[in-house]
Amino acid sequence: MTDLVILGAGGLGREIAAMVAGSSLGAQYRIVGFADDALAPGTQVGRWTVLCAIDGVAELGPISVVLALGDPELKTRIYQRIQGLPLRFPTLIHPSVHNLDPARNRIGQGCVLSAGVALTTEIEIGDFVLLNLNTTVGHNARIGSYSSLMPGVHLSGNVALGVGVMIGTGACLLQHSSVGARSKIGAGAVVTHSIPPDTTAVGIPARPLDQKSGSI
Ligand SMILES: CC(C)(COP(=O)(O)OP(=O)(O)OC[C@H]1O[C@@H](n2cnc3c(N)ncnc32)[C@H](O)[C@@H]1OP(=O)(O)O)[C@@H](O)C(=O)NCCC(=O)NCCS
Repeated sequence: MTDLVILGAGGLGREIAAMVAGSSLGAQYRIVGFADDALAPGTQVGRWTVLCAIDGVAELGPISVVLALGDPELKTRIYQRIQGLPLRFPTLIHPSVHNLDPARNRIGQGCVLSAGVALTTEIEIGDFVLLNLNTTVGHNARIGSYSSLMPGVHLSGNVALGVGVMIGTGACLLQHSSVGARSKIGAGAVVTHSIPPDTTAVGIPARPLDQKSGSI
């Protein structure tokens, strides 16, 4: 049994706790509590308590942690703060995930794949990536580290996402489309082409926010 601390006691942290404790992952990981900068140690969050602030996790010993932060920018900053500490970053995969080609799909450390996710083949997923509920990932997709795909996102074949990308709930990315590093795609958008880095795009077809008039 591996002790696991969840970094972030917000909605995603509570969802990850439920995913681990409510599935066969619970036979592998024992949740010992949360670390959170905004809640005092001892605060009760569901069945668990806040143990310490995030920088305090090192004092818990060489422990496994999961970054329960949906915002890629925040996730990146928090990892930079703790990366030198003696921590392990397991990838948590809900038992209902359909990984159709585990031998040819690469998944980095510290990722979370929630219930109902499906991966086809020849997929590369970086470190600390969140694939939230029912996300589907088509062949030859590349997903940069720290990216977060919200529930119900669909990536067609050959989609490329840079580092630290956020894809909002229910967005669809058509084949060969791409999203540059640190960009955000709005909930429900359809990405048909290339979205540059550091851009927020919404609508059908997805266009950068300052050009969206008439597109949605
Ligand atoms: C796209 C997004 C990142 C923009 O956030 P933001 O920069 O704070 O933008 P704002 O909320 O200020 O909205 C700016 C404009 O875009 C519009 N807009 C925002 N999100 C939109 C979307 N998904 N589709 C279409 N238009 C959208 C707003 O109506 C607003 O238009 P206006 O200027 O004509 O009033 C955000 O709205 C979004 O979709 N986030 C995804 C949320 C999500 O999936 N959460 C899952 C949690 S599990």
